[in-house]
Amino acid sequence: MIAILTGTYQTVDPHFGRQPAAVELDLGCGKGLLSLELARRYPDRLILGSDVMLGRLRRIERKRDRRGLENLVLLRADNLDLASYLLPHDCIDRVHLLCPDPWPKNRHRAKRLVTTEFIGRVTRLLKPGGVLHMSTDHLPYFDDWQRILAVYPALRPDPAAIADIADIQTEFEMQWRRQGKDVPHLAYRYEPAAPAR
Ligand SMILES: C[S@@+](CC[C@H](N)C(=O)[O-])C[C@H]1O[C@@H](n2cnc3c(N)ncnc32)[C@H](O)[C@@H]1O
Repeated sequence: MIAILTGTYQTVDPHFGRQPAAVELDLGCGKGLLSLELARRYPDRLILGSDVMLGRLRRIERKRDRRGLENLVLLRADNLDLASYLLPHDCIDRVHLLCPDPWPKNRHRAKRLVTTEFIGRVTRLLKPGGVLHMSTDHLPYFDDWQRILAVYPALRPDPAAIADIADIQTEFEMQWRRQGKDVPHLAYRYEPAAPAR
């Protein structure tokens, strides 16, 4: 089953009726390599793989069912809606945003997902101690991300937070690497300040 969340305007249960040890969200999961591999490696975690392209999700669904990965839930949802209201705050242990469309042409820049506002919304989803993991083949976009992330003092660089999955390359990362491009990753941990007493 794929949870169709386009046209949904209320917050959903982030556990989808389960009691997982942790929840990971693969935003714009594409062909699903990361989501499927996370679900295989971490059977006690719930993996949410989301994308707007239903055809891609259906192909991942077939692989998931063949492999018996019951801990992978597929969501048809817009990234911005998930970050803004479809999921409640403090519900995700690790968010992955790997190789989002870079829109490299100047006239397309307005379509880019990653802005100061978007990072604020994604941070809303993270549990304290949660991790934001991102990658791109477009180095100017990567530089922008670092400037945007610096605006959030509660987000601290923590490359070790993705050491367990450093060997995984998504389909898009493999494609860019075959073309000789670098695909840097970053990982930031959300450490909100303790409330003053
Ligand atoms: C360049 S692909 C990267 C896929 C995958 N993360 C990878 O690294 O192989 C970007 C993915 O984001 C999805 N996408 C684009 N805009 C989106 C949006 N607004 N909401 C959800 N998914 C979106 C596309 O359908 C596509 O599968």
